[in-house]
Amino acid sequence: MREFISVTDVASLPPGHGRTVHVRGRELAVFNLNGEFFAIDNTCPHKGGPLGAGLLKDGRIFCPLHGWEFEVQTGVCITRPDRPVKRYPTQVRDGQVQICLETKSTVQQIRQRFDQDVERFSHLEAGNTAQVDSVLSLELIAEAAAAANPTAQALLDAGCGAGNYSLKVLERLPGLNVTLLDVSQPMLERAKERVSAVTAGIVCAIQADLRQAELGVAQFDIIVAAAVLHHLRTDEEWREVFVKLHQALKSGGTLWIYDLVEHALPEIQGRMWERYGGYLTAIKDESYRDHVFDYIEREDTPKSLTFQLDLLRAVGFSEVEVLHKNTCFAAFGARK
Ligand SMILES: C[S@@+](CC[C@H](N)C(=O)[O-])C[C@H]1O[C@@H](n2cnc3c(N)ncnc32)[C@H](O)[C@@H]1O
Ligand code: FES
Repeated sequence: MREFISVTDVASLPPGHGRTVHVRGRELAVFNLNGEFFAIDNTCPHKGGPLGAGLLKDGRIFCPLHGWEFEVQTGVCITRPDRPVKRYPTQVRDGQVQICLETKSTVQQIRQRFDQDVERFSHLEAGNTAQVDSVLSLELIAEAAAAANPTAQALLDAGCGAGNYSLKVLERLPGLNVTLLDVSQPMLERAKERVSAVTAGIVCAIQADLRQAELGVAQFDIIVAAAVLHHLRTDEEWREVFVKLHQALKSGGTLWIYDLVEHALPEIQGRMWERYGGYLTAIKDESYRDHVFDYIEREDTPKSLTFQLDLLRAVGFSEVEVLHKNTCFAAFGARK
């Protein structure tokens, strides 16, 4: 879906000027070229310089850090044509400059995509190769969960996909009762089949959006949530889900998260993103990198590791623990 969002009033951005604006968690640069407005990403692909603070001359913006040059109408990078920035359509309404943003996929759209993708999440030994260190994180989380709750009886796998995390935890804590939760029914069916084959415990499958699911109070010793929380949108949703997961844990129980994370400093975000792009290109090619970046852009709203650690503490977890971080992916947890 596309939506025009007001970012500044026309009068405050005279011809020949530009500015950085913040809109829906993104940093964009907007420019007035002889009364026409143009918007591009604010973050310079070189080393994250703020393009909105650059020098605007003859329709081109010069990055304030090292002078890379971009066309503001197209986002084309004159200095490095292979490193353009994204441009956004604009319009003027009621004296306001508005920028057109693609809004993120709905839960329904996300579910439909995952319904078609069960096979990719069904390989325990290979993990999900689109994620950095997915196999390592799977191991680390299973090991941490088993070490923190060695007498656990009940596990919740939130956003279980085809059940890889449950299977890994069961390798160390056999016989657990497992609750599988996912918005996608085909994922749940695959997870139930795989998990039931290895545990003598009760396996229960819940098809629900994590935001709406009833998880009860003090039900689980261990909760894992791998590559699912980045679908939460607003800060309020993040808080409500963390509160719910905290309530659902027994005292002393632990929550373990592996996920895509973003970074607080735009220049660091740029560097980490570049490294992640290099990783995707190395395992396949550039079109695979673009494909993965494309669905992340459409579907995901990750939060930084520090945001999540702070929130875990704020909702009542007594200890937080970081297991691993590499570029845009982190494995971490907390004890109730
Ligand atoms: C990237 S997969 C990860 C699967 C599994 N945790 C793993 O690491 O192999 C994300 C899973 O979360 C599910 N999902 C996405 N949004 C969800 C939501 N709001 N509530 C519950 N499940 C959701 C998807 O259907 C998908 O199966
Ligand atoms: S030219 Fe933009 S950060 Fe170096």
